[in-house]
Amino acid sequence: MCGIVGYVGERDISSVLLVGLERLSYRGYDSSGISIISNGELSTWKKQGKIVELNNLLSGLSIKGSLGIGQTRWATHGVPNEVNAHPHFSETKKIALVHNGIIENYMEIKKRLIKNGHIFRSETDTEVLIHSIEEHLETTDSLLEALEKTLSEIVGTYSIATISEADPEKIVIARKGSPLIIALGKDENFVSSDINAILTHTKKVIYLEDNEIGYVTKTSTFVKEIGGSEVQKEVKVIDWSPTDAEKNGYEHYMLKEIFEQPSVIRNIISKYIDKDNNITLSKIHQPNLDISNVNRFIIQACGTSWHAGLIAKYLIESYARVLTEVDISSEFRYRQMITQGHDIVMAISQSGETADTLACIREAKSKFFKVLSFVNVKESSIDRESDGVVYSYAGQEIGVASTKNFIAQLATIYIFSIHLGLAKKHLNKEQASEMIQELRRIPDYIESILKKSEEIRTIAEKYCFSREFLFIGRGVNYPTALEGALKLKEISYIHATGYAAGELKHGPIALIDAKLPVVCVAPQTLTYEKMVSNIQEVKTRKGKTIIIATQGDEDIKSLADDIIYIPKASEDLTPILASVPLQLISYYIALKLDCDVDQPRNLAKSVTVE
Ligand code: AGP
Repeated sequence: MCGIVGYVGERDISSVLLVGLERLSYRGYDSSGISIISNGELSTWKKQGKIVELNNLLSGLSIKGSLGIGQTRWATHGVPNEVNAHPHFSETKKIALVHNGIIENYMEIKKRLIKNGHIFRSETDTEVLIHSIEEHLETTDSLLEALEKTLSEIVGTYSIATISEADPEKIVIARKGSPLIIALGKDENFVSSDINAILTHTKKVIYLEDNEIGYVTKTSTFVKEIGGSEVQKEVKVIDWSPTDAEKNGYEHYMLKEIFEQPSVIRNIISKYIDKDNNITLSKIHQPNLDISNVNRFIIQACGTSWHAGLIAKYLIESYARVLTEVDISSEFRYRQMITQGHDIVMAISQSGETADTLACIREAKSKFFKVLSFVNVKESSIDRESDGVVYSYAGQEIGVASTKNFIAQLATIYIFSIHLGLAKKHLNKEQASEMIQELRRIPDYIESILKKSEEIRTIAEKYCFSREFLFIGRGVNYPTALEGALKLKEISYIHATGYAAGELKHGPIALIDAKLPVVCVAPQTLTYEKMVSNIQEVKTRKGKTIIIATQGDEDIKSLADDIIYIPKASEDLTPILASVPLQLISYYIALKLDCDVDQPRNLAKSVTVE
């Protein structure tokens, strides 16, 4: 979703802002713009479409200046066009502002401002902010004070950066419900909604918390609570490397990330398991979070992370015998939670910033639930606000469609469930050790599947012109089927539905005809025979079957139009293995259809609005 970048310093200002915006582009956007104060005068450039359009607009211009802000916009209020793009500027064109988030009460504020003579140009909620600041600057010279007064009237979420000709040394910033960081350089400073924009310049960052406002100059920073006093902020040093954000010779980030999966699992094993197969999850044994007496987990997550949550239910209930509910965050948020005591709300999130998931943990904490989270991005809001955390250690994921992070979530959930099973004494050391040995084999198994990528590509291309797909699976592989369908929808825009195979005859079987490709996730698990019967039902109705089966399963071949074998592994690890060919099928179909694989239309990597 929208990304903010700001810079104050002596580098080439427009290129710092453009490169920053480019590094935010993976989040998904539909227009971009920058404002720069040059020779005391503020100028703004905006363009609909890709950042290259903005770059073309700026090419040939010699822009001097040492202060500027920019934004990639993902449209919510108002279509993607130049007028609605950020930065928004004041009537006098002397103040500019970028905003991520949603101003919920903008209609009533807009009415008042129009009555006071303000003329609105855009359809956005954001524009009220700039007019309101302008109005408050009639009674104060301080941009920070004007923004603070504006925010006192605002209901909604925001990260904001604003600059003014009257104060050409400062970028004034504020945060509530949408991330914003200050990044510290030598005689230069940056602001951004996302570490990626500044990663090549510095690793020293200050995280703004909700309800904080402040400013950065070339050599200083200042942060206070909105309506309160100054806050001394801790400077943190991040340990990511910018090389994570390179394609390393792959055509797309998504393909690179699919191929990184073996090393992701090896890394996770090295972080959590010692050579004697002992598990250490240091961040879940905080003094205020005791998992050993948990009675119930309530998992809430969105999209792919929700699919990981569905698999977590199978594992936690089976290894630790702890009742586990799974909910979509946007639904969980508005239902009446029943607290029974010793319940733990579990959030699963790659970005750690998903608005619905974050809102749920806040709601849960207000009702005295403890919160345990599985997150990939360290120091994200969900990481910082949870009582305990298990990091996914997937490395930075740039492709909007999640691949290696899903696999990392499944591996960490597997390790956590074994750990809990031991703590609850439903597993003994030998069993746990054997289960961990199984996990240690997975990276090699994934590598063997990746070696078949050309074979998978041929199968994918055979079906790429079908306008709909059905994905079916049972048990732990029912969520795998859901995830396979989501991947295909996201990057190829083909309609795909995931179903529990046993549900077919309760409705979806009506869809099956000779034209419908049905992807059947059918490794040899407890429900294998049942799954074979379900595939038989598909075949009888002439559906085209693409079967993911266990290596050596010759019998199932007779039911397959196409078959992709995965190595034999423990049942609970088959979702990891089966997901790899499903990812590749989606990737190669999208590639053949010439879709924007890494940045699919309408999607955002980090969904920071409700
Ligand atoms: C995954 O391919 C999707 N882009 C999306 O469903 C994503 O998983 C969802 O928005 C949740 O994001 P999170 O893991 O960052 O919370």
